[in-house]
Order: sequence, then C-alpha cells, then structure tokens
Amino acid sequence: MYGLVNKAIKDLVVENHGTDTWTRICDEAGFEESDFISMSPYPDKLTYDLVGAASKVLKTDANSILEAFGEYWILYTADQGYGDLLDLSGSSFVEFLGNLDMLHLRINNMMPELKAPLFSTQNETENSVELLYKSHRQGLVPMLKGLIRGLGKRFDMIVAIEEVASESSEEKGLCFKITW
Ligand code: HEM
Repeated sequence: MYGLVNKAIKDLVVENHGTDTWTRICDEAGFEESDFISMSPYPDKLTYDLVGAASKVLKTDANSILEAFGEYWILYTADQGYGDLLDLSGSSFVEFLGNLDMLHLRINNMMPELKAPLFSTQNETENSVELLYKSHRQGLVPMLKGLIRGLGKRFDMIVAIEEVASESSEEKGLCFKITW
C-alpha cells in the first residue's frame, strides 16, 4: 500500500503512545527505516506486519487496531492535503458513500499503483443504506468499519454497521447494512 497508509499508522501510534513505542513496533516488524514516503508504494506485507507488531507491543487485538486506524484515516487524510477532495465527495453521508469509487479514482490519478477497493450502495431507506465492498485484499473489514464510523462522525452521525447476506455478493463483494 502507499506510504501514506503506513505513515498514518505511525502517526496514530506516536500520537497515542509516543516515539519509543513506535520504534519498538518497527523492531518487532523488522522494519529498519523509521519513516515512509507518502507517494511511494510499499509491499502490503509491510502494512500487515506493522499492524501485527503493533498488536503485540500494545497488547491490543489487531482488529481493534485496524478499526481505530480506519476512524483515524478520515481525520488524517483531511489533514494531509485531501480535505478538498473529501469536501467534494459528498455533502451527506449517503452521497459520500455513493462517491467512494470516484474519490479513489481521483486518488488513483496521483497514485498510479493504487489498488483501491470497489464500493456501491443499494436499498437506501430513511435511516439505513447497504454498502457493497469488494477488495483485492484480505482481513480489512475492521478497517472498513472504522472508516464508516469515522465518516459518520464527519456528518455528526452515530452509525452501526453489520455484515448481511447479499445475493450479489459473489459479484459485488461483501454487503454491510449501515443504520443511524
Ligand atoms: C481522501 C481520502 C482518502 C484517501 C487519500 C484514500 C486513499 C487510500 C489509499 C492510499 C489506500 C491504500 C490502497 C493502496 O495503496 O493500494 C486506500 C485503501 C482503502 N480505502 Fe481509501 N482513501 C480515502 C478515503 C476513503 C474512505 C472515506 C473510505 C471508506 C469509507 C475508504 C476505504 C478504503 C478501504 C476499505 C481501503 C483498504 C484497501 C482494501 O480494502 O483493499 N477510503 N485508500
């Protein structure tokens, strides 16, 4: 994944636990540098290793770390120069969810090796919507849940997310019902 993702993991750890903890995590993951270039792609394995090492060092399960990371990502990207893009992506929560592919497509112009997941929405009601998520990667559903919660907060909403069965899931990925 692009360095921006690893950098966000680093900043989340440093903000909450300090630089020494981050150094221990890098040692545990066998990562010898201490920083990342945001616009350079890194092997996915490094990101998974960093999360695994953070889980060991912080004695927190990896899924909780991924969830916290997802929530942090919404604030982090706004702070890292993507605020205008976030503003353009929707003036309501549901509109924003419907524009996630467009958002990643725009990021793709700046990060040509991006392997973004694919999203679509369906069955919208007054207080719920379903989000289909298709990823090239395994194990990132907790991150997605954090992202959705963080996105809800951006619109002053408290949202609940549950995975539901969907007829189209073979073709379109996992289906999540989001309610508020
Ligand atoms: C301006 C804001 C955003 C930026 C700059 C951004 C950029 C990225 C980048 C760089 C990756 C790593 C993929 C790679 O390097 O190949 C990624 C992955 C991902 N993004 Fe975004 N993204 C943004 C907003 C969002 C939002 C709002 C959501 C959902 C609510 C989202 C959902 C995801 C998910 C779930 C992944 C994990 C990768 C996977 O499932 O394969 N992103 N994004």
